[in-house]
Amino acid sequence: METEIERYRKPTRILHWIHAGAFVALFLTGLILFVPPLGFLAQDSWTRVIHRVAAILFVVAPLIYIPLNWKATLRGIKDAFSWGGKDMGWMQAAPRYYFLSDEEAMPPQEHMNTGQKLWWLMVIVFGVIFAITGVIMWFAKTAAPIALLQWMVIIHDVAFIATGSMLFVHIYLSVVHPLMRPLRTGAWSSMARGKVSADYARSHHAKWYDRVSKEKEAELH
Ligand code: HEM
Ligand code: HEM
Repeated sequence: METEIERYRKPTRILHWIHAGAFVALFLTGLILFVPPLGFLAQDSWTRVIHRVAAILFVVAPLIYIPLNWKATLRGIKDAFSWGGKDMGWMQAAPRYYFLSDEEAMPPQEHMNTGQKLWWLMVIVFGVIFAITGVIMWFAKTAAPIALLQWMVIIHDVAFIATGSMLFVHIYLSVVHPLMRPLRTGAWSSMARGKVSADYARSHHAKWYDRVSKEKEAELH
């Protein structure tokens, strides 16, 4: 059987799918509030109710995950905020890699490449922004000054546009792009089953693959 490598542990995968489900519900109900012609869909305010229930899930799921997985959380946050020269290499190679499938152009990557790191960073930063602005709109609607509420709506909308558009890129690059295939052992498999084939790991995340292989070897000796 083909050798496989663990990429995402079970708690991380569970968090990803709960968070993704909540985010998609927030995105769709938010879209109905954001686009006036879709207003007829918001009759009886059911969209507002779903938006609030999904918002609770969106905030509470990571709050449960973090204390139970604080080492992985710290590692993840460190990764998201560590940027340097190697990210320039990815940015230069990315157009040829993603548009022409030229794998030679791409320098070896760690567990997360620069594009994945950017999405992860956006999820952290905009997640906090969504929560702060959303809670103010929710609980301080009558108490807060109108100007503050207007700013909260604008900032919430900017976060919606930025993360909403990146979500489509994220789904395309993690499931549809031919380089991320096959589904059974490639990127999809990493979030569905937690594992990828050694071949996939070597060609997409060579630095991570080398590090993990050396750690495994050291454990055996
Ligand atoms: C609903 C559709 C979604 C699908 C099909 C999907 C799929 C995936 C897959 C396959 C991966 C693994 C990529 C790899 O390691 O090679 C992944 C990673 C990740 N996903 Fe999602 N995802 C979805 C939604 C979301 C949402 C809504 C968020 C954030 C709120 C999110 C955040 C992340 C993060 C931070 C990672 C790790 C970094 C990365 O690989 O980009 N995902 N996703
Ligand atoms: C993190 C937790 C979040 C909370 C607490 C929250 C809360 C709110 C609240 C209270 C409103 C005001 C409208 C209403 O009365 O229902 C609102 C509007 C909206 N939300 Fe959220 N939200 C959150 C996350 C998100 C996310 C993740 C998205 C999209 C990806 C989103 C997109 C929107 C949009 C587009 C609007 C309409 C704003 C407008 O009127 O222009 N929200 N949200």
